[in-house]
Amino acid sequence: MFAMQIKIKYRRSVLVLVTIVSTVFLLARCVSNQGEDKNGGPKVDEAITFASYTTSEKCMSCHKEIYESHGKTAHYLTGQPAGEETIRGSFQKGKNEYYYTPEILLSMQKRDSGLFQVAYFKGEEKKAMRFDMVIGSGVMGQSFLTWRQDQLYQLPITYFTAADQWSNSPGFPNDKVLIDRPATSRCLECHVTYAERISGPALEPTGFARNKIIYGVDCQKCHGPAAKHVEYQTQHPQDTNAKYIVNPAKLSTQQQLDICTLCHGGNIQKTKPSFGFTAGKNLSDFFSIESHNNVVLNSSEIDVHGNQVGLLKASKCFKLSQAMTCSTCHNSHENERGKTEVFSQRCISCHNMADKKLQTPTHIQVNAIETNCIDCHMPVQPSKSIAVFLQGEETPKTSQLRSHFIGIYQEEIKKFINKNK
Ligand code: HEC
Ligand code: HEC
Ligand code: HEC
Ligand code: HEC
Ligand code: HEC
Ligand code: HEC
Ligand code: HEC
Repeated sequence: MFAMQIKIKYRRSVLVLVTIVSTVFLLARCVSNQGEDKNGGPKVDEAITFASYTTSEKCMSCHKEIYESHGKTAHYLTGQPAGEETIRGSFQKGKNEYYYTPEILLSMQKRDSGLFQVAYFKGEEKKAMRFDMVIGSGVMGQSFLTWRQDQLYQLPITYFTAADQWSNSPGFPNDKVLIDRPATSRCLECHVTYAERISGPALEPTGFARNKIIYGVDCQKCHGPAAKHVEYQTQHPQDTNAKYIVNPAKLSTQQQLDICTLCHGGNIQKTKPSFGFTAGKNLSDFFSIESHNNVVLNSSEIDVHGNQVGLLKASKCFKLSQAMTCSTCHNSHENERGKTEVFSQRCISCHNMADKKLQTPTHIQVNAIETNCIDCHMPVQPSKSIAVFLQGEETPKTSQLRSHFIGIYQEEIKKFINKNK
């Protein structure tokens, strides 16, 4: 069989040792423990198949601007077929190796039949694993999946952006090469728009059709399957009313939040088969999401990683305003990373800084008050669940994420004032 592990004695590697313990993997594991319904498995929504979807290139002719800007977003780039253009790590000699120990080597290689992660033990080739799918835009890093028949497995080596180096994959051991970890369907559900199952109706499908995947977080993840919309509008160019497509702006606040909660809601548990939920439906019909609906969250217990919904819901801005959604601050069609001033303008759309109440001692003191609300009120915080060991360092480096618990952070405020004096 393909299952094989190259066991080795542990020795501190001279190269970068990166261990990322990610909630994502905890999630993935929780989901994979779920079984099938006793009556022969839960029902699959037969109405939605690969044929219900189209490609986003099809949107270009009528929604050119959105199509072009969306192509630059982390969403669009978060799931892609593997290739030299999509993999960010280097295949050049000297930069393409990851030593687990002096005897165990993983080397990234370009061969005639594709790109591979090749495991060696004492110089002898043991296993060549093809890069088939790239997961992650590379803001933080990229992981890779490989096909074996109709199943996807995660490759042992990941590209880690902050160090611009290959590292061992999150949650993988760094003393042996693990080559038989299946990628769960949740992994695909959060990083691709649709993948057609070819295995039975169990909650955790094992088989997918290779050529029936819509990569990345595409238009149709937020607007629903669009084949029918494209067909109709193409055949009826005189009809300027949209048919057969979901505009989130016209949904209830809860349904708008549901779209983002599918992937930004932390550990939610599946109750129906994968890919059944589409924009405009109620997420609670497909997942148990009570923790988000009760809004009795204790923000200090929620990690900044992967649960922007939970943190936002615990904030006063959300609790005390009408109909706040993710779109209040995010334009889903644009890559707005780092545009602090743009985000601050969105705060000011609700908080009138001329208001007496906002003439607080700190606000008056700060000059550039209107261009950066977020470093004081939504500071970047270390994740409690992602820790990274770099070469020669005894303490792990934690991954940094923007907190969505909007509040008053005394420490960060002091730092901000000192920096901007
Ligand atoms: C042949 C032209 C055409 C194509 C191709 C097309 N659309 Fe549309 N779309 C329209 C028209 C016309 C409207 C209605 C006017 C408007 O809102 O721009 C519309 C509206 C929309 C709306 C807003 C709906 C609403 O109720 O407000 C969304 C969302 C949308 N399209 C998404 C897509 C996506 C995603 C694709 C590609 C998969 C796509 N469209 C491809 C013509 C097209
Ligand atoms: C199908 C899963 C999925 C859905 C649905 C989804 N996201 Fe995401 N989102 C992701 C993933 C995965 C990333 C990380 C992308 C990367 O860097 O690889 C991400 C990243 C982001 C980012 C950071 C972008 C950047 O430049 O780094 C923002 C902001 C965001 N999502 C907002 C939203 C909002 C708002 C919604 C709802 C309208 C939403 N997302 C719906 C999966 C999803
Ligand atoms: C519940 C949804 C979810 C699942 C399941 C999930 N991810 Fe993610 N992933 C995200 C989100 C959201 C981000 C963006 C970072 C954040 O907000 O924490 C992300 C970020 C990443 C990144 C970093 C991308 C970048 O450069 O910013 C990688 C790599 C990644 N995920 C790989 C995986 C792999 C591999 C699996 C499956 C084994 C997986 N993820 C499962 C939602 C998910
Ligand atoms: C991460 C989710 C997400 C993705 C991906 C996404 N959209 Fe949207 N889209 C939205 C949201 C949310 C709105 C409503 C914005 C608002 O509240 O005004 C919207 C609105 C629209 C509209 C209505 C007109 C407008 O500008 O508001 C069109 C048309 C549209 N999207 C087309 C597309 C196309 C085409 C793509 C892919 C190229 C795409 N969208 C990708 C979330 C998304
Ligand atoms: C949809 C409207 C809305 C938006 C957008 C908004 N807020 Fe708020 N915010 C509120 C409301 C309502 C309250 C509660 C009443 C108050 O304190 O003014 C609040 C409260 C706050 C508080 C007090 C928190 C506390 O725990 O005492 C801070 C700080 C704050 N907002 C900062 C921000 C920042 C920074 C942004 C932008 C990133 C922002 N808000 C965006 C509506 C909003
Ligand atoms: C009050 C404004 C506001 C709201 C509402 C909001 N965000 Fe954000 N979000 C921000 C800001 C500001 C950033 C940081 C942008 C940057 O630095 O580039 C951010 C960043 C992100 C990121 C990237 C995180 C990182 O550190 O890499 C994700 C993912 C995200 N938001 C998802 C969401 C989701 C999902 C929702 C809805 C539950 C949401 N946001 C609602 C203001 C907001
Ligand atoms: C230098 C850090 C800093 C910046 C920048 C900053 N704030 Fe504040 N903000 C504070 C502090 C500290 C408080 C608590 C009152 C005080 O000590 O002045 C506060 C209080 C608030 C409150 C709650 C007021 C109340 O008592 O109800 C809101 C709302 C708020 N800020 C919004 C904003 C917005 C919007 C921006 C950007 C335009 C912003 N802040 C920029 C530090 C900052």
